[in-house]
Amino acid sequence: MCGIVGYVGSKQAQSILLDGLKRLEYRGYDSAGLAMVTSDGMTVSKSVGKIKELEAVLGEEEIVSSHGIAHTRWATHGEPNEVNAHPHIDTNGDIALVHNGIIENYRTLKEYLAQTGCVFRTDTDTEILVHLIRSYYTGDLTEAVRIALTQVEGTYGIAVISTAHPNMIIAAKMGSPLVIGHGEDENFVASDVSAMLKHTNRVVYLEDGVIATVTSDSYDITTIDKVHISPQIQDINWSLDEIEKGGYDHFMLKEIHEQPTTLNNAIRGRLNFDEGNARLAGLNLHREELLNVDRVIITACGTSWHSGLIAKYLIEDLARISVEVEYASEFRYRSPIINEKTILIAISQSGETADTLAAMREAKQRGCTVLGVVNSVGSSIARGSDGGVFIHAGPEIGVASTKAFTSQVMVLTLIATLLGRMRQVSVQRGQELIQKIEEIPSQVAKILANDETIKKIADIYYNADNFLYLGRGINFPVALEGALKLKEISYIHAEGYPAAEMKHGPIALIDDKMPVVVIALKDPVYDKVMSNIAEVRARSGQVIAIATEGDTEIAERVNHVIYIPETDRLLTPLLSVIPLQLLSYYIAVKRGCHIDQPRNLAKSVTVE
Ligand code: M6R
Repeated sequence: MCGIVGYVGSKQAQSILLDGLKRLEYRGYDSAGLAMVTSDGMTVSKSVGKIKELEAVLGEEEIVSSHGIAHTRWATHGEPNEVNAHPHIDTNGDIALVHNGIIENYRTLKEYLAQTGCVFRTDTDTEILVHLIRSYYTGDLTEAVRIALTQVEGTYGIAVISTAHPNMIIAAKMGSPLVIGHGEDENFVASDVSAMLKHTNRVVYLEDGVIATVTSDSYDITTIDKVHISPQIQDINWSLDEIEKGGYDHFMLKEIHEQPTTLNNAIRGRLNFDEGNARLAGLNLHREELLNVDRVIITACGTSWHSGLIAKYLIEDLARISVEVEYASEFRYRSPIINEKTILIAISQSGETADTLAAMREAKQRGCTVLGVVNSVGSSIARGSDGGVFIHAGPEIGVASTKAFTSQVMVLTLIATLLGRMRQVSVQRGQELIQKIEEIPSQVAKILANDETIKKIADIYYNADNFLYLGRGINFPVALEGALKLKEISYIHAEGYPAAEMKHGPIALIDDKMPVVVIALKDPVYDKVMSNIAEVRARSGQVIAIATEGDTEIAERVNHVIYIPETDRLLTPLLSVIPLQLLSYYIAVKRGCHIDQPRNLAKSVTVE
């Protein structure tokens, strides 16, 4: 969603803010703007589109200021135009504010402010906040922000500056991420650490309901009720290289190719070969508590929801525990049945997805133990869970999730193995699995080395209007993931289906223009999937099969084959998804799409 950067220090703020915005662009990018306090007062610049448009508006000469805030916008209220772009300023133009989130009671507040003579310039929910702060301002900016926030319903991460306080940023958070970066005679505020990593790796994650008064050499954090909070400084161990493209054309391609490494990171120190088990210290649950679990609910959104679906197969197969997988946006608004034997697993790359966060909180309120499977270490879901496992995939910048997906599936496989070994999985079966798990990173590398085959297939089908993805059993969620990857970055309509379900409807769509990607591995349903392939071919559908190395019969029965190495049937999603990621990537490149920043999408969906 929207990205916030703020700087206060002794350096020129403009280039720091612009660089920070570029690093946050992946979060939301329909428009951008910045405000800085100068010797002549507040200066505000805005533009529609990418940060380079904003740079063009600003021109060659840098504005002299060492104090400012900036924003990339992903529109919720009001179309993406210059007027609606943040920062927003009060009527006098002395106070400027940027906001990520939604002010839900903005209509009521707007009516009230209009009666006091406020004139509104924008269609946004955010603008009321800057007028509200102004209305409470009597010389103490922190206090004005605090009183204003007591009137607000909704979610926010905000940064506020004023010409009357030329060395101060007020930051506040409720439901939208915000981090303070701690530098030498300079401090930063941002929606995520990537915006400040060039300058500092020492950060303080803000909790919901706090207000921070940040100056160049201090930050004071209190709750909205004025209770002082001691900041917990954390060192971020991401390097700058990790958030740069490193010679690849796109972050997505870089992240696809990082998977042998990221999968190794997900299993490092976690495989116990002798006992055929996984070591997962972060779960924070005793053996008795884990043995007590008789139902697992998994909640997530998008790609993370697909890894949850795979986890259902894994946990039910290995641990014989019943698993429900639900979209977080649905879970939070029903009345879930939860008891002391239920655990909820929240899966999220960013750890900030609003629906997943709310679902997790709902479950916690009902007394459920919540485990997080999260990538971002300091994120709200990571901090709010009772325990969990970090996936250690490193920063994922491409909007289309790739390396986070495989690392999630890997970690969920380890959780399933652990639960299974406590119940019915023998040492021998556990050892078999652990050995096969260890082979996965090099097998992924082998598939990646075959990307020329996939590129050629992309060259043939990049103009298709529709794609169908079919899979069965544990590879059905991979079909869903393949379809999601294709539609989000290439804008081709694609659907994932359980292969046998095709004849109950989607078969009507099949003709000679319809590419059908089928995951047809040598597993117990191989023959059934081959029958489904025959049904597609009989209607002239073009079949691209993902098949097991050594399968000599399949090539004659389909149009194209992409082979993946053999592994345990439960681990196949970790391999079968790789060609689907590459296929989407090369199709989108061929269509000239914005790979890392597809239209209308944002990396971290921090609004409902
Ligand atoms: O950060 P999260 O894993 O919670 O994000 C969930 C979804 O928004 C995300 O997976 C989305 O579907 C991706 N664009 C998929 O590539």
